[in-house]
Amino acid sequence: MSGSQYRIVQRPRRLRRTAAIRELVAETRLHPADLIEPMFVVEGLDAPREIGSMPGVRQHTRASLQRAVHEAADAGVGAVMLFGTPAERDPMGSQAWNPDGVLANAVRWALEAEPQLPVIADVCLDEFTDHGHCGVLDADGEVDNDATLPLYARMSVTLAEAGATMLGPSGMMDGQIGVIREALDGAGFTGTALMAYSAKYASGFFGPFREAVDCRLTGDRRAYQQDPANAVEGLREIELDLAQGADIVMVKPALPYLDVLAKAVRIANVPVAAYVVSGEYAMIELAARAGAIDRERCIMEALTGVKRAGASMIVTYWATEAARRLAR
Ligand code: PBG
Repeated sequence: MSGSQYRIVQRPRRLRRTAAIRELVAETRLHPADLIEPMFVVEGLDAPREIGSMPGVRQHTRASLQRAVHEAADAGVGAVMLFGTPAERDPMGSQAWNPDGVLANAVRWALEAEPQLPVIADVCLDEFTDHGHCGVLDADGEVDNDATLPLYARMSVTLAEAGATMLGPSGMMDGQIGVIREALDGAGFTGTALMAYSAKYASGFFGPFREAVDCRLTGDRRAYQQDPANAVEGLREIELDLAQGADIVMVKPALPYLDVLAKAVRIANVPVAAYVVSGEYAMIELAARAGAIDRERCIMEALTGVKRAGASMIVTYWATEAARRLAR
């Protein structure tokens, strides 16, 4: 090192000099077990199908789901999260509580492939209703909160019966966590955990998900999902879900809401999850394909940022890939 004419006592660059030193002083570490891989299963699909707006993510058949679940487990991911698309939709979303429906079957198939790997099943009606909303509609065409709750309860018991380790209620109906908890407990499923999508925002970043589950929504979800302008409201939702029995709370999407995540971690005495959603995935994938950014570097940077903001676990379509990279 060269001498200096300056007296600079504090030199932060000393701890950045080599990769080994940087590794030693890293404040944040991603671990494969913190990562949760979402997977889409489509009823009646002949062969897995790539989702155009989410390059690298596929709609699964039974066989391709089971392969993907094996790969996730081999990579050491913490859990898989399942979404189902039924062959038939109706205004109530009744396939959601069919014990032989696509999502209940997907839960069984995942557990058959990897009995030890936790399986989280999405609890929401948007994949199952013909109008694409997360609940049933009233006479005015608005999502009817209280009429939706018993349907979530039925769906939850069906998925618990199929063996789901955990349920992820994502529909943003008021009171949903309490009603689902009571239904599960009443049916004897006191051990089925609830990962509450507490601070879920009405986000444009859910765009590609609609293609992933063939959702036919017209209009938007602003009357039940949160306004992006509000952080205090997100904290209130977390408190409400904790009071109703949530075991884990979530902030979603992740990157535009890291401030909400950091605040949530301070008030929640349970693990806080963050969901890096379909549009966040697409942004990096498509920018990388256009040659604008270094794909792998930006993926790991984004996931590290979410962890640094305080997430205990991250739901991400890069979970298996990132877990493999972390392991080597
Ligand atoms: C609702 C649900 C959605 C997502 C997860 N659960 C769609 C929505 O609320 O509009 C989005 C996930 C993503 O964009 O990756 N079932």
